[in-house]
Amino acid sequence: MRSLPYFCRGEVVRGFGRGSKELGIPTANFPDSVVEHLPADISTGIYYGWASVSNGDIYKMVMSIGWNPYYKNTKKSMETHVIHKFKEDFYGQILSVVMVGYIRPERSFDSLEDLIAAINNDIEEAKQKLELPEHLKLREDNFFTTAPGTPSTTNANTTPTQTIMNGH
Ligand SMILES: Cc1cc2nc3c(=O)[nH]c(=O)nc-3n(C[C@H](O)[C@H](O)[C@H](O)COP(=O)(O)O)c2cc1C
Repeated sequence: MRSLPYFCRGEVVRGFGRGSKELGIPTANFPDSVVEHLPADISTGIYYGWASVSNGDIYKMVMSIGWNPYYKNTKKSMETHVIHKFKEDFYGQILSVVMVGYIRPERSFDSLEDLIAAINNDIEEAKQKLELPEHLKLREDNFFTTAPGTPSTTNANTTPTQTIMNGH
């Protein structure tokens, strides 16, 4: 995928809320504006990379892009699970991510347990792969230090928060 690493940011919006409740794996959804700007060569599937909420610490993340075949969603989504235990949810805050690698296609499963097991495998794979020097380097990228922290920080000198950045 030519477009990797792919940098983007956007406000966290509400998904169906199943991530936390049913799966025990909370996910932060990007708005349509971010999903619609994905380059054509970024296929649906599961990715790993780095993420930061409102200019905070940078954590490992896994992301699912697509229609969630297990739930048969009709709308394409980009859902990020930040690999860190947060005390509170972060709806309305700005999530900045860099997608650095691809893990697998999205698929359906026979049971919720199988979906959860697959996601946990993705998390383990992401944790390992992100220790590679070429991936650790992206954690230091100035994209994260220059990221607007709140939806209202748009001015002439900063990137509009709904704007997609790549190759910055
Ligand atoms: C790493 C990761 C892998 C995922 N893989 C799949 C998958 O293969 N098939 C699928 O239907 N959904 C997959 N999902 C999406 C979950 O089904 C989704 O996050 C969950 O339904 C919560 O969505 P909600 O926040 O809109 O409620 C994955 C999510 C993550 C974070």
